[in-house]
Amino acid sequence: MSVEGKKRIITTQRLLEMKQNGEKIAMLTAYDYTSAKIIDQAGIDIILVGDSAANVMAGHETTLPITIEQMIYHAQSVVRAVKNPMVVVDMPFGTYQGNSKLAVSNAIRIMKEAEADALKVEGGSEIIESVLTIISAGIPVMGHLGLTPQSIHKFGTYNVRAKEEAEANKLIEDAISLEQAGCFALVLEKIPAEVGKRVADILKIPVIGIGAGNGVDGQVLVMHDMLGLTQEFSPRFLRRYHDLHREMLKAVQNYIKDVKDKDFPNDQEQY
Ligand code: KIV
Repeated sequence: MSVEGKKRIITTQRLLEMKQNGEKIAMLTAYDYTSAKIIDQAGIDIILVGDSAANVMAGHETTLPITIEQMIYHAQSVVRAVKNPMVVVDMPFGTYQGNSKLAVSNAIRIMKEAEADALKVEGGSEIIESVLTIISAGIPVMGHLGLTPQSIHKFGTYNVRAKEEAEANKLIEDAISLEQAGCFALVLEKIPAEVGKRVADILKIPVIGIGAGNGVDGQVLVMHDMLGLTQEFSPRFLRRYHDLHREMLKAVQNYIKDVKDKDFPNDQEQY
């Protein structure tokens, strides 16, 4: 539901129609009220409360440490802000793998406490039981294949996935299984464009890419990366739309200078 109690305009059905009509889906991350409000105003289709909050918000090296309580806090802040986009929340590492009963109870908790619209989980055949159980509770699930950062210790690197035929075939099989299990959409991360297009052509549900080429049904980026707030992360797929790091640095330096020079506050800025 939206801030005014009306249903949000981007639903799972609307996303399906967008794919059928060839209309690309635009998705960005947000973890806080103020950013979510701005990107809703800009007309974004989906806001992902990603577990990348572990990196961007909390400074962890991987996404693994973020807790369900922290994800719920970020999701509540975003949900409070938005009217139109669908809000999808990442289920954090350890809340759905290996135990489908635990998975559904954690999924219900996030949906109840954050009032999210849908959840996202990483993985294919290994987590299909959990996916089926969560969907059977009436919760829409978005899948995530390719580079799945919650498995970084298994992969060992953040390199491009599914370059070899065997891994590409496994990814395609997993994508089909997730669709058959009832997922409403799928994220593909850092894979060859040709594999991304093959998956998007095979599946009826929308496929949203991050480093998966232009042949998929939509794109997702981490907002802090595309605005240039983060600097240390520069993969090929990242288009920077601004250099907010430089702008913010300049603004803060100007503020410090004005305070030190006794120029701030001036006569008009005091009571
Ligand atoms: O957590 C996240 O931001 C994500 C996107 C990179 C898809 O999962």
